[in-house]
Amino acid sequence: MSDRRRSQLAHEYLTTLRECAAGGGERSLAHAYELGRIACGSGIGLVELATMHGVALREILGTRAPPPALEQCLVEAIAPFEMTHRGFHEAIERMDATERELEAFSYSVSHDLRAPLRTISAFTQAIAEDLADRLDDKSRDHLRRVLAAAAHMSDLIDALLELSQINRAPLGRHHVDLSALAAAALDELMRREITRTIERVIAPNMVVEADARLVRILLDNLLENAVKFTAKQPAARIEVGCEQQGGELVFYVRDNGVGFDMKHAERLFKPFQRLHGERELAGTGIGLATVRRIVDRHGGRVWGEGAVSRGATFYFTLPSR
Ligand SMILES: Nc1ncnc2c1ncn2[C@@H]1O[C@H](COP(=O)(O)OP(=O)(O)O)[C@@H](O)[C@H]1O
Ligand SMILES: [Mg+2]
Repeated sequence: MSDRRRSQLAHEYLTTLRECAAGGGERSLAHAYELGRIACGSGIGLVELATMHGVALREILGTRAPPPALEQCLVEAIAPFEMTHRGFHEAIERMDATERELEAFSYSVSHDLRAPLRTISAFTQAIAEDLADRLDDKSRDHLRRVLAAAAHMSDLIDALLELSQINRAPLGRHHVDLSALAAAALDELMRREITRTIERVIAPNMVVEADARLVRILLDNLLENAVKFTAKQPAARIEVGCEQQGGELVFYVRDNGVGFDMKHAERLFKPFQRLHGERELAGTGIGLATVRRIVDRHGGRVWGEGAVSRGATFYFTLPSR
């Protein structure tokens, strides 16, 4: 709506209210409602209309108390605006409060928890070194376990922090070369796996319109799992590809590792849910929850298919806007 039309509407509104004040009754009330409908239909927000209403009222009444009939018609006219306005502000306040809580949470996670953890690791390490020749095997093993638990907790903190930050930054939407990102992510993971060879198949030219940083985190998590859960497979194979399913482009990361029982398929995406225990393979149980949150932010879907000892495939969609 143009500025001119807006001020014209405000003027008409003021005139109608004046008519009401002068005893215009039903006719001017109906006109006021009509103006409200026109305003909303032409893109003026309810909040703006309520503000316009307030300005008009102040102008008419000055310091006078309104006549009772006018007061009632004004109350009727303004009530829905008032409620919408209030509801709107309350919702924003609640959102701000949640956002602030999340920030405080991230801050306390990263700072308050990290500092004592560093102290635990540092002093345990110091004891292990200082008493190296006096400790028996059992005590040495105990200290080793304390250090391993502290390292695991540090990983958990990192993963939780990453999860809590997925929703914070605005979502970027750019052309992202998913094939190149997958290749780079796998290269990096393989640098840590120098004793293994894994057959890699990455479909070329997979492009999405998405947030590149988040897509990289998504691929990192799925590929890290694929590498980890094929650790005992002598001829490991990891495939990243895409296919059309019911008119929708679906991407997948497939491996021929330990797989999983389909009856747990949904549970895997919840934080801290792990089917393969701590002792078997390291991890935090937050990777797939992070993947789900990233896919959710893009308005897509993610699901897993697998069978015990027969490998796993994780599918996801990243629809364009
Ligand atoms: N490629 C895979 N093959 C078999 N199981 C998997 C695979 N990816 C994930 N899972 C199962 O889902 C669980 C949750 O995965 P994730 O959230 O990434 O946690 P983490 O990798 O830290 O264990 C894993 O512990 C594992 O049981
Ligand atoms: Mg993982």
